[in-house]
Amino acid sequence: VHIFNEIEPFRAFLRSLRNVGKTIGFVPTMGALHEGHLELIKQSKSENAVTVCSIFVNPAQFNNPTDLAKYPRTIEGDTSLLKSVGCDVLFLPAVSEMYPSSEALTFNLGALDNILEGEFRPGHFSGVALVVSKLFNIVHPTRAYFGQKDFQQVMVIKKLVNDLNFDLNIVVVPTVRENDGLAMSSRNLRLNPENRKKALLLYQSLQEAKALLLHGKNFSEVKKIIQSKFKSTDVRLEYFELCEAENLKSLNSVDANTKAVLLVAAYVGEVRLIDNMLIHEN
Ligand code: PAF
Repeated sequence: VHIFNEIEPFRAFLRSLRNVGKTIGFVPTMGALHEGHLELIKQSKSENAVTVCSIFVNPAQFNNPTDLAKYPRTIEGDTSLLKSVGCDVLFLPAVSEMYPSSEALTFNLGALDNILEGEFRPGHFSGVALVVSKLFNIVHPTRAYFGQKDFQQVMVIKKLVNDLNFDLNIVVVPTVRENDGLAMSSRNLRLNPENRKKALLLYQSLQEAKALLLHGKNFSEVKKIIQSKFKSTDVRLEYFELCEAENLKSLNSVDANTKAVLLVAAYVGEVRLIDNMLIHEN
């Protein structure tokens, strides 16, 4: 893996590859890599001549300083995982390299930013939009890869690419799960064994709600059932919603013509986890 810490030599290196017609697949991450990230890298490798990964814990997208301080950082393990899957290039910038000026640009992302993650993490998506725009301008990828686990993030990034005419394709890769169903997340590293078991409630509640909806129950009834399930534990539910998958508008029932998605966020101990599930896979 070629490792770059500075923007200019990294850019020059990628420019030389583009100049000889190589396609570039890009997997932006915040590190603490797991099987879900590796799936993105593998897909990129199968579709592009060169695969670039970035690891940057982006302060601009953390609305909670404790969350930023406690975000797992496992760079040595990450580098060997990247080697094991044959990632070609790693961009590993310092905060001062990405944000030389203290006054950061902010984005108004409209309606998409006032609901779900946007409601509970003010400023989060503006920070994501900022760093992703910077990374796209630095890397100029042919394709960029994101996990479906961050469902709303994918929508924000698609809007960004569309509205700002970034010349690249966004590829969305299905969520990779542990054997028991827990969605892979870097934050899972922060769960102690007891909370790791409790974290399964997110996936189980999505599965249960999906089954009830497909049996014709209204979402308002389903939500009450799920809320009481969470109340009987110490996993603190932040939101549990049924939305149209295309625009995240609220739904109260499912039908064969509307693509719907269930989305959940909850605190397991002090670790905030999210997950989602499409009602009809296609
Ligand atoms: O999904 C993530 O890990 C981050 O939000 C991203 C896209 C790398 C931006 O910092």
